[in-house]
Amino acid sequence: MATDRDHDLVLLGATGFTGGLTAEYLARHAPTDLRWALAGRSLVKLERVRARLVEIHPMYTDLPLLVADISDPAQAETLAASTRVLATTVGPYLEYGEPVVAACAKAGTDYLDITGEPEFMDRMYVAHHQTAVESGARIVHACGFDSIPHDLGVYFTVTQLPDDVPITVRGVVRAGGTPSGGTFASTLHAMSRPKQMREAMVARRQAEPRPQGRSSRAVAGKPHRDRLLGYWLLPLPTCDPMVVARSGAALPAYGPKFRYSHFAGTKTLRYAGMGVAGVAAIGAAAQVGPLRRFLASKVPQGEGPDEARRAKSWFTVDFVAEAGDQTVRTRVSGGDPGYTETAKMLAEAAMCLASDDNPPLAGVLTPAAAMGDALLPRLQAAGIRFETRD
Ligand SMILES: NC(=O)c1ccc[n+]([C@@H]2O[C@H](COP(=O)([O-])OP(=O)(O)OC[C@H]3O[C@@H](n4cnc5c(N)ncnc54)[C@H](OP(=O)(O)O)[C@@H]3O)[C@@H](O)[C@H]2O)c1
Repeated sequence: MATDRDHDLVLLGATGFTGGLTAEYLARHAPTDLRWALAGRSLVKLERVRARLVEIHPMYTDLPLLVADISDPAQAETLAASTRVLATTVGPYLEYGEPVVAACAKAGTDYLDITGEPEFMDRMYVAHHQTAVESGARIVHACGFDSIPHDLGVYFTVTQLPDDVPITVRGVVRAGGTPSGGTFASTLHAMSRPKQMREAMVARRQAEPRPQGRSSRAVAGKPHRDRLLGYWLLPLPTCDPMVVARSGAALPAYGPKFRYSHFAGTKTLRYAGMGVAGVAAIGAAAQVGPLRRFLASKVPQGEGPDEARRAKSWFTVDFVAEAGDQTVRTRVSGGDPGYTETAKMLAEAAMCLASDDNPPLAGVLTPAAAMGDALLPRLQAAGIRFETRD
């Protein structure tokens, strides 16, 4: 890991909604000897964020502010070379993200983001994995609600099972919350590109080696009623099952044959039908440029749910793992998934890469593969519950 840098950790996107919450979390929880800084494209806006942090503690009066517009690759490179770890909340990642990944891979700088855009992750693997392996950089996507509760939840679950038998896991997500402008824009953008998403997935599949003598796959489940959990399950084609399957490919603890299915859970069939109709309507609208822009204008970028609304938001993810004659049930749960908990997850993951002992790996990695053992106790200490159930 690079040691000759001005900063241990730079938070890029600090002037945005999720970046601001992440900055506040770091201000409350970063160790005093962590040399961290805020980055963004507007000094005036960065100064406003720092003023909020000074209200948390006066020692942040001198917190370094780094001005960088990452649409200019040279500025992204200067920023990446200034720090050991860079965490970015600048999205949509498909639109803005690549210069930062490229700069970190080249400079040997550890990188984290909160993307949930599968096409972005696949394209970054194909374009920058090998460079990162050579420079020693760890490129870790999906360090927010996409996909930490699912990835670390499955990690927590399978490590309670033997590693010499096939393991099948289903994960069932339930959540209540409101999206920010940035999330809404990223979702619409990603949904408008099904063809490019498929192409990126195929390109990655051809480039990425498979584990020797083991297999790990995400399996699209079918809608059904889960008798054990008491929910109606709908297959949830987010980036999460792919991230979990990649952890399964990277980690022998997932056994010789690992299969994962990912679902949304609802209490009644009526809610399930409403969920399918809602997603289908947004997906159809995302294909039509003017409709997409109209929808995006309804939730402006930079804005998101206020504190009172976030306080009412919640998530649970239930896991059922079957290995031979053994079944293990677990649950990961917490508060507002999109923002309060995402800020916590990103900040804890960034501090974990900056400060903890992690496996000596490099390249594009999942959260569980890059830092599972060290991140799990951090998240538990930060109030995200990982429980084993009867
Ligand atoms: N995985 C998850 O669970 C999860 C949860 C929350 C958010 N997200 C994702 O995180 C991303 C951010 O969401 P958000 O609601 O926080 O968005 P946001 O409020 O719109 O923030 C975007 C940030 O990007 C900055 N930015 C844009 N272009 C830039 C450039 N060229 N150079 C430097 N900075 C630039 C903006 O700076 P200015 O202030 O100067 O405009 C702002 O700080 C989205 O992609 C969203 O989908 C994921």
